[in-house]
Amino acid sequence: MKGKAGAREAAAGSELREPRTVLVIHGPNLNLLGEREPEVYGRTRLEDIDRSLKQLGRELRLKVETFQSNSEGAIVDRIQQARGHVRVLVINPAAYTHTSVAIRDAITACELPTVEVHLSNVYARESFRHHSTIAGIVVGRIMGFGAESYLLALRAAKRLIEAETAAAEA
Ligand code: DQA
Repeated sequence: MKGKAGAREAAAGSELREPRTVLVIHGPNLNLLGEREPEVYGRTRLEDIDRSLKQLGRELRLKVETFQSNSEGAIVDRIQQARGHVRVLVINPAAYTHTSVAIRDAITACELPTVEVHLSNVYARESFRHHSTIAGIVVGRIMGFGAESYLLALRAAKRLIEAETAAAEA
């Protein structure tokens, strides 16, 4: 038994050893943000979203890593690499949201607390977008606020990390 003091030391130690890293993954076609269907996804480019995330991360004292791929396998590989050193995953799997068992399994296997993000409100769109393979395994879902959805998700990630740290200290 570690006891309260031991748990507190362990939590403090892990804070020192590992920065509080949040990984943000963007799925297929999100590299075209800004040009792609701006009436649905807005005019903000992916690089601007990533820049805003990193800036908010500095304010929240989080290290933000970002990754975009059009390939399902590359996204699975990136999730596996995150295992053990990323505290929270924020992911917009884009079209893979609706189809990918592999991404769901990777998140489950890596035991990563996850926030699902979408720029658009998928429930206000075609019915094939209403199903998400990851909805049942994520902590929560944020959608419909355009680029702001990501920033809200980062704030949610910070809350999750704080709650986890407090639980370790209790
Ligand atoms: C999306 C919604 C998906 O249905 C779509 O395939 C995307 C983007 C969103 O962020 O609103 O590519 O995930």
